[in-house]
Amino acid sequence: MRVFNSLGSNYDFKFVLKSLLAFGGNGEVLKLKKTLNKKYSGEAFLFYKGRQALTYALESLNLPKDSSVAFTGFTCFVVFDAIKKAGLKPIPIDIDFSLNFTTTNFKKTLNEEDIKALIVQNTLGYPCEIEEILKICKEKGIILIEDLAHCAGGKYVNKKEIGTIGDLTVLSFSQDKIIDGISGGAVVIRNKKYQLRFNRSQKNIKEIFGNPSIILQSKDKLYPLLTFKIKALYDIGGNLLHFILKKTKLLSTPMQGNINKFLNLPEWYCSLINYQFDNFDKELKHRREIAEIYKEELDSKILNNEIIDFVSLSSNLRFPIFVENREKLINYLKTKGVYVSDIWYDFPIAPKKYLAEENIENKLSNSKRISETILNLPTHKNISQKTAMEICDLINLCIK
Ligand SMILES: Cc1ncc(COP(=O)(O)O)c(C=O)c1O
Repeated sequence: MRVFNSLGSNYDFKFVLKSLLAFGGNGEVLKLKKTLNKKYSGEAFLFYKGRQALTYALESLNLPKDSSVAFTGFTCFVVFDAIKKAGLKPIPIDIDFSLNFTTTNFKKTLNEEDIKALIVQNTLGYPCEIEEILKICKEKGIILIEDLAHCAGGKYVNKKEIGTIGDLTVLSFSQDKIIDGISGGAVVIRNKKYQLRFNRSQKNIKEIFGNPSIILQSKDKLYPLLTFKIKALYDIGGNLLHFILKKTKLLSTPMQGNINKFLNLPEWYCSLINYQFDNFDKELKHRREIAEIYKEELDSKILNNEIIDFVSLSSNLRFPIFVENREKLINYLKTKGVYVSDIWYDFPIAPKKYLAEENIENKLSNSKRISETILNLPTHKNISQKTAMEICDLINLCIK
C-alpha cells in the first residue's frame, strides 16, 4: 500500500493527460465565471491564487487603513498575509475542537477589537456556527467573507450551501483542494454594495494584471505528471525523483514564485477547474463515504464528536483525528506505506517559519494545543474504501 495525503492527491491518469493537453480558450474562462456566478449568486473574478482573491476582496471593501479583520485562528499563513497585504490588521480568533471559533470567542474578540470584517473558514469542511455568527455580523455591521478553500460543496447546519451566506465568497483551486485545478482562486462579490465599488475601480482584471510567468505555468502543467510518476514508481526511484525535484525546485508548490502581485488565471487552468466542477458531486460523495468509514471504524478515543457529527454536511477535505503521540503514529504508518506527515496546520497560523509576529500563540492556546495533536487522514479520490479500512486497522493497532 502507498498512500499520500497530498502530492497530486486529486489526480488520476485522465487528469494527467488533461493537464498536459489543456490549452483553454476564452470559453473556459466564461464557463467558470458562469458556474461561480450561478452557484454563489454574485459576480466572480478570477486570480492565479486564492490568497490574491482574498486580498482583492478585502481591498474592494475600501476599509480605512489598519481596520481590524477577524479570522479563524487555525489557518494557513497566506490568510494572515492576505489581510496584511490589503493594508488591514489581522485578528485571529481561537478555535475549539470543532476546528472553528465559537460564537463565545467571536463575542470576546468583539469586546477587545473594533472588527470591520470577518472571514469564516469552515476548517477541513466542517461547518461553523454560521447562523449566530451572521446575526452578530448584521447587528454590528461587520462584513462577512466566506473562505471556501477547505469547504467548497459543504453545507451549514441550516442546510444552506457554504458560500451562499456572506457578502463575499472566496475560493481556492490550488493543489489538494476539493476543486483542484493545480492553481487558481476566485472572489465572488455577492453583496451588490461591494460589487459596485469593485467594478468602478477595477473594470477588467485581465487588462490590469499580468499572467503568471511561463516558468511558473510550466511547473504547474507538469505537476500532475510528475507527482503521478513519483507515486507510481515510489519504491523503484520515485522517492529519489521526488527528493531531486524538490531540491531543484522543479516541483510546483503552493508557496512558490513571486506572487506578491495580483496575477490573472490563464485559460488552461480554467478548463481543469471546469472539469473538476463537472465531477464535483461525485467527488464530494466519495470524500463523504471515506470519512464515514473513518468515523465508524476508528477507535472513538481519537475522534471528536464535534467533527464526526458533521461528516454528512462537510466537504470532508480531510478527516481529523487527535493523538497525543502523533510522531509515533506518523512513523508507524510510514513503515506501512501510509504517508500522512503533511499536517495542515502544525501551528495556529502555519507554517510557523513564515510568521514574524510574536505572541500570537499566547492568544491562541486552544489552536496551539489542537495543532500539536491533530492528524489529518486522506479522503481524496485515490483512497478506496478498502484502503480506508486498512488505514483504520493500522491506526487502531498502533494506538491500542
Ligand atoms: C484557509 C485558506 N484560505 C485560503 C488559502 C489560499 O489558497 P491559495 O493557495 O490558492 O492561495 C489557503 C491555502 O492553502 C487556505 O488554507
